[in-house]
Amino acid sequence: MANRNLNAAKEAKKDEFYTQLEDINNELRHYREHFRGKTVLCNCDDPRVSNFFTYFAYNFEFLGLKRLITTCYKSQSMDLFSQNECDQAIYLIYDGDRNGNNIPDAEEIGIHPLKGDGDFRSQECIELLKQADIVVTNPPFSLFREYVAQLMKYEKKFLIIGNQNAVCYKEVFPLIMQNKVWIGNYSGDMAFKVPEDYEPRETRYWQDTTGQKWRSMGNICWFTNLDIKKRHEDIILYKHYNPDDYPQYINYDAIEVGKTELIPCDYNGLMGVPVTFLDKYNPDQFEIIGVSLVLGNKKPEDLPKSKQGGPAFYLKKNNEYKRLYNRIVIRRKI
Ligand SMILES: C[S@@+](CC[C@H](N)C(=O)[O-])C[C@H]1O[C@@H](n2cnc3c(N)ncnc32)[C@H](O)[C@@H]1O
Repeated sequence: MANRNLNAAKEAKKDEFYTQLEDINNELRHYREHFRGKTVLCNCDDPRVSNFFTYFAYNFEFLGLKRLITTCYKSQSMDLFSQNECDQAIYLIYDGDRNGNNIPDAEEIGIHPLKGDGDFRSQECIELLKQADIVVTNPPFSLFREYVAQLMKYEKKFLIIGNQNAVCYKEVFPLIMQNKVWIGNYSGDMAFKVPEDYEPRETRYWQDTTGQKWRSMGNICWFTNLDIKKRHEDIILYKHYNPDDYPQYINYDAIEVGKTELIPCDYNGLMGVPVTFLDKYNPDQFEIIGVSLVLGNKKPEDLPKSKQGGPAFYLKKNNEYKRLYNRIVIRRKI
């Protein structure tokens, strides 16, 4: 029993990454026009540590928000360790400045108890979700699939942080392919504050001079269904197709393009590009056909068993097979 609690606590800990205000600010400035008159929900956000709450409360008037709702999750399994967790799951409502100082004062913020633990999937949190126009947060990575599915089910606008690997999840990729979800403005490295009891690791981990622990990740991106300028900018194409530089896959009828900037300007067939292409994707310029995780299911016949893994595209050079990382298949719109 004790072991089970400990494991549950460790699992819960994995999700404790706190986003920096600067990262929120840098992304949100590309979406300002979407927020006027809107109710924003941050539903994985302890207001005492969440900069999403801080950002929206302090920019309430600037953005012209109607209401800010924030829910704070109380993880039962974290009682063993955490000093950060709320004593009780609560939700906050802020309807803007009333005393003219343009600062969210304590007496202007309504604090309300939740009956359950504040899980975003609970009925009472879903009721709050229904009131929201736009959901903005960094949700638990371990529940990303469910989190996105819920947003889609309730047809919400959203801007959320996730891992680039999530692009290829079977629950997420079809949404990207159908242009129901896309990648936001910034992708790449991001540093997060982690709790005091976060276990040190060899890489991408440090403690600053105040003793605050940090963790960074190199493959973070924003997922959204709010329109941004970047999504309408063409990728500048300058390379010309030739069969030597753009070999054909062995097990799928498309050419390999190793980097987004190398997409040839004069090739109208199917092309496989790295997943990072989505960061530059303009739906008026390209159409997404699929992903190698699904399309690469026909293995080369003479591929040794030891070299086989899940579905992928393969190239053959000097009689050797090369298995490629996930590729997205695209076609130029003419
Ligand atoms: C990646 S952290 C981000 C926290 C905060 N949104 C931020 O960006 O600083 C995800 C948060 O979701 C909370 N969480 C975990 N499971 C949850 C659930 N089922 N429902 C709501 N929140 C949850 C965690 O406690 C954690 O604080």
